[in-house]
Amino acid sequence: MKIKTLLLATSMLMAAGVVASQAQALSGKVSSTEEGAMEGVLVSAQRSGSPITVTVVTDQSGSYRFPAARLAPGSYALRIRAAGYELDGAGAAEVAAGRATTADLRLRKAHDLAAQLTSTEWLISMPGTAEQKRPLIECMSCHTVERIVRSKLRAPELAAVLKRMQNYANNSTVQHPQKRLVERELSDKRAREVADYLETVNLSAGESWSYPLQTLPRPRGRQRGTIPPLHRFDRSKTRSVIWRCDRIGREPKAGLSKRRL
Ligand code: HEC
Repeated sequence: MKIKTLLLATSMLMAAGVVASQAQALSGKVSSTEEGAMEGVLVSAQRSGSPITVTVVTDQSGSYRFPAARLAPGSYALRIRAAGYELDGAGAAEVAAGRATTADLRLRKAHDLAAQLTSTEWLISMPGTAEQKRPLIECMSCHTVERIVRSKLRAPELAAVLKRMQNYANNSTVQHPQKRLVERELSDKRAREVADYLETVNLSAGESWSYPLQTLPRPRGRQRGTIPPLHRFDRSKTRSVIWRCDRIGREPKAGLSKRRL
């Protein structure tokens, strides 16, 4: 009898432990007029004054959940990622110890779709052959493709820019370029070839791009299950360099990647 009671007590304790470790600090639903409940939306929370952003993904009912183990009590700014959408209003939530907070988020159609495209989505959107696009893969070691497609430069100036890029060291950032100690040659012919192509995909000919902007579908079903809670560090508040730009490859917001080394 005693053993039975002990076993029961232990299993109850274990169950309580499981519940405690899965307790939600913050949860809510994400929806829009266009789609209703939205699956596959990345919801990020950043505590005021903290360099760490934690991101989770909404399930098929549009619900998101931050486990208590991932969010310390405090005031949080909430952000979302769902191509084509933005938060309707400011996202904010207060997380208190031992209490579950709910914050439902409404999304509206994004005003500036271009600002949301990742480098991969730019590469998919722009016309051109794989050969023409291939050199752009190297560019992403220092900045995003958005910087390139937003430039208004024509081929001759672009060729000069390409030569300049060639002589930046690998760990350069836009805020903190570092010249290579030994110069690297890029032939005029090759620079012009790449520049001629870039001129066709940037803003040298007008205020908007001549091609439709394409975005990748949001993760659904099983794909969604592969996304664990993500952590990102904001370099403006840390002294170590961890991410060069937004982890999904968008241009960092002003100040986000300012170096303080
Ligand atoms: C080693 C780092 C590095 C690489 C690789 C790199 N860039 Fe850059 N890029 C920079 C830095 C730093 C800046 C800002 C300073 C400047 O303009 O010189 C910049 C700025 C630019 C600009 C804006 C220039 C202006 O005057 O407005 C363009 C366009 C550009 N890069 C295109 C490219 C392309 C295309 C590639 C790939 C072929 C590339 N970059 C590869 C570091 C790099």
